[in-house]
Amino acid sequence: MIAVNELTKKFGSLTAVNNISLKVNKGEIFGLIGPDGAGKTTLIRMLCNIVTPTGGKATWDNKGAIFGYMPQRFSLYGDLTVIENMYFFASLYNLDKKTIARRTEEILELAGLTDFKSRLADNLSGGMKQKLALSCSLITKPDVLILDEPTYGVDPVFRKEFWKILYEQNKEGITIIVSTPYMDEAELCTRVAFMSEGNFLMVDTPVNLKKNFPYKIIELKTSAKEIDFFNECNEIVDAGFFGDKYHILVRDFNLARDFIEERLSADNIEILQFSEAAPTIEDVFVSLTGEGKGKD
Ligand SMILES: Nc1ncnc2c1ncn2[C@@H]1O[C@H](COP(=O)(O)OP(=O)(O)OP(=O)(O)O)[C@@H](O)[C@H]1O
Ligand SMILES: [Mg+2]
Repeated sequence: MIAVNELTKKFGSLTAVNNISLKVNKGEIFGLIGPDGAGKTTLIRMLCNIVTPTGGKATWDNKGAIFGYMPQRFSLYGDLTVIENMYFFASLYNLDKKTIARRTEEILELAGLTDFKSRLADNLSGGMKQKLALSCSLITKPDVLILDEPTYGVDPVFRKEFWKILYEQNKEGITIIVSTPYMDEAELCTRVAFMSEGNFLMVDTPVNLKKNFPYKIIELKTSAKEIDFFNECNEIVDAGFFGDKYHILVRDFNLARDFIEERLSADNIEILQFSEAAPTIEDVFVSLTGEGKGKD
């Protein structure tokens, strides 16, 4: 669908996107995952021909392919109603009135916005604004939908509903490219690219990313809250405290277990739970970037 070849974008001395090559296949939900400043928006803008690359190029298989684009900071017209926003965006394209009316009705229904169609965009909740922005980008019935952090800052219920709409669109044959800072959303993509400082660290299916994860994970609950000896062990790559337990990435499970048990027993700390857990996408990302490092 889209072939990206050695795409690079520099802003002065800063390389926002560094020599990225990639193919997005028809029917995929391709996820761009990365922290703030990773280069997601810049890459997406180059795919949409909004930003001129410093080097390389992005080629679309089908030159006539229509794409819908939902930018990161999408500006709806706050003083227009839901339906007026839809009509306004539709009017930018060469669509006849009947098609616009039919498409608008279909999309608002799909997005669960029919009951709100006369409400001013300013008076919608954050989640509904995002759904309206998505609806506007669907008005042309695109072949490819490109979304830049569409669920950022939106509550989990809305995020779920939003992804349901994306899945429905994907089932209808729309290829989707979506960026997100949320690791749980990476799991929902067909393929995921981890992006950091302008580079792709890894591109694969969520299943393969987890299957090829080189470390083991220990979940540990103890009678003490502050454990500060994790950084003394070479087998321990990263440790974080989540909820009520430690989540520890280790190289060799048995060696790490021996070390932890020995140290806890020496300090008279009781083990309440010690188990192995399956890696999440977040674990994979942490292991690739060293982010969250510190063995706190
Ligand atoms: N027009 C510009 N001029 C100068 N630097 C820019 C410009 N646009 C982006 N950058 C820089 O390029 C890098 C990548 O930015 P980009 O917005 O693509 O990242 P991102 O992954 O989308 O981040 P975020 O999650 O914050 O949206 C950042 O360091 C940013 O400051
Ligand atoms: Mg961005």
